[in-house]
Amino acid sequence: MADLSTTYLGLPLANPLVMAASSATARVENLQLAERFGAGAVVLRSLFEEQILAEQAQLEDTLSQGSEAHVEAQDYFPPVVHADAASYLRMVEQARRTVSMPLIGSINAVRSGSWTRYAKQLSECGVDAIELNVYSVAADPATSGQVIEEQLFDLVSSVLDQVSVPVAVKLSPYYTSVVNVVHELDKRGVSGVVLFNRFLQPDIDLHHETLSTVMPLSTPQEMRLPLRFTALLSGRIEADIAISTGVHTGEDMLRGLLAGATVTQVAAAVIKNGLHHVGSMLRDCEAWMDDRGYSMVDDIRGMLSQAAVQDPHAFERAQYVSMLSGGSHSSPLNARVS
Ligand SMILES: Cc1cc2nc3c(=O)[nH]c(=O)nc-3n(C[C@H](O)[C@H](O)[C@H](O)COP(=O)(O)O)c2cc1C
Repeated sequence: MADLSTTYLGLPLANPLVMAASSATARVENLQLAERFGAGAVVLRSLFEEQILAEQAQLEDTLSQGSEAHVEAQDYFPPVVHADAASYLRMVEQARRTVSMPLIGSINAVRSGSWTRYAKQLSECGVDAIELNVYSVAADPATSGQVIEEQLFDLVSSVLDQVSVPVAVKLSPYYTSVVNVVHELDKRGVSGVVLFNRFLQPDIDLHHETLSTVMPLSTPQEMRLPLRFTALLSGRIEADIAISTGVHTGEDMLRGLLAGATVTQVAAAVIKNGLHHVGSMLRDCEAWMDDRGYSMVDDIRGMLSQAAVQDPHAFERAQYVSMLSGGSHSSPLNARVS
């Protein structure tokens, strides 16, 4: 049977399935279940700074309403508590005492001082690593992309200076050059990058003529975006790469590994299907590897990264027209065009 064990952020993991930060990772009981079903590691739901806690709680409420179609999902949304950092940290301590798989703390703060303070507090509570959830929408027309990136680098450097545990940065895909930003973070010594966070996207409800904040869970198709950037970066940075967004099945995990991901993170699929889904994803992943005769995760990791494939331009193509003129005979569109 294939050996799925791996290393992420310098931590030994039983397998490359990491529970992404979400409401499913906000309760100790869920973490215990996730461990029982075989998760390799877990990222705790973010510690959100007080100023934005209320807004986030509202988002969580809305998200939980959006998932009511899935009976099992309801359990995973804890009652919204306007908790201060202290009660969050108590939960982390309890989690640390209860589960033995690696625990990754997650922070979303506002001021640079808070990022470092929370990072120190979390590492004192026994987390094995920290994920910085850099979750904000660049909405100020007076702030340039360069300034936003410099703020990111300063914030990451200040956290790296203050904590001894490994630090990963969970990024948005909305940088002009994601690849450049990741390289800059890599130079500064982050242990991992998480590609990508998934923002709440408000919609417009025509029936009520109001804004709607119900956020549907991701679909597997959304994995194409992190998959491309993982493939572009794999083998070219020291930091580990975690794919987040659209990883729903064991096959998705395999796609991520083939593109060069160190691990794949899962939120929506578990919220939708229940925590036992972790077990079936791992079994499917293992079965494929056994079937193909691969014995270790390292045997397949990065096999289809940009650095490894015969057509490296495939991951850089942006226009449909170049895809069509590239001679893909499997496309019915191509048949029409030629
Ligand atoms: C209900 C819910 C709560 C989430 N809470 C957090 C969070 O606290 N911190 C964070 O970094 N990401 C959070 N996320 C984002 C997920 O970690 C993940 O990046 C995103 O859902 C995309 O992955 P998926 O396709 O597996 O859902 C949350 C997602 C959901 C659905």
